[in-house]
Amino acid sequence: MFPLSPILSPKGQGGGLRILTHVLALSPLAVLAWDFARGDLGANPIREVQFRTGKYTLVLLVLTLSCTPLSMLPGLKWVARFRRSLGLYAFAYAGLHFLNFIGLDYGFNLRLLREDIFEKRYAFVGLAAFLSLLPLAVTSGSGWARRLGKKREQLHRLIYLAAILTIVHFAWQDKAKTVEPLVYGGVVAGLLLVRVVGWVRRAARGTGSQTSSKEP
Ligand code: HEM
Repeated sequence: MFPLSPILSPKGQGGGLRILTHVLALSPLAVLAWDFARGDLGANPIREVQFRTGKYTLVLLVLTLSCTPLSMLPGLKWVARFRRSLGLYAFAYAGLHFLNFIGLDYGFNLRLLREDIFEKRYAFVGLAAFLSLLPLAVTSGSGWARRLGKKREQLHRLIYLAAILTIVHFAWQDKAKTVEPLVYGGVVAGLLLVRVVGWVRRAARGTGSQTSSKEP
């Protein structure tokens, strides 16, 4: 791994990888806008937007969760630097997903929305996932890092709750789709396991946090 580090690390590329992260995170949105403008979103564009934004959010959540475990590997410590921007992009796509639901799908009809969110369990769980991400997005700035100190690390573990709720949301929104939620669920479970082992080891040693594991 080590010889690749100067090529791949943001230092070696003068931040090129950081730019690539933004391009990769924004390109699904550009494709969506392009398809929307060309009327290429199929017979039910609102549903298509719902599916695509939901999937982008899930993928970005998984990528965010992968940063810390990857950064623990030799020569890959720099990967942890991408966690914050990936997490913020995940939140932004979740916001679009929710906005599409309440705005385009329900026309901001709050009464109908309230009824359906409590009636449709997948929507309720989706909302819980979105709300779990909210405090992470709010406290992502460096000012909050100083203010919250170690508590921020604990707060940011909420991302695992958001990921688990998302998997349930995914599985419940269409019962015919079983393989995909299972695959994503397996990946999230694996990533969570790596972190839990780390937390248990740290607790057993009674040591403070280390640079590579300051956040989830
Ligand atoms: C962190 C937050 C969320 C994530 C990661 C997420 C993710 C997803 C995913 C992965 C899908 C399935 C996409 C596919 O089948 O390709 C989906 C579908 C959907 N989600 Fe979410 N979701 C979230 C929050 C919400 C919220 C807050 C609502 C509304 C209250 C919502 C409403 C829906 C709807 C209506 C569908 C499509 C259902 C259908 O037409 O069959 N989601 N979401």
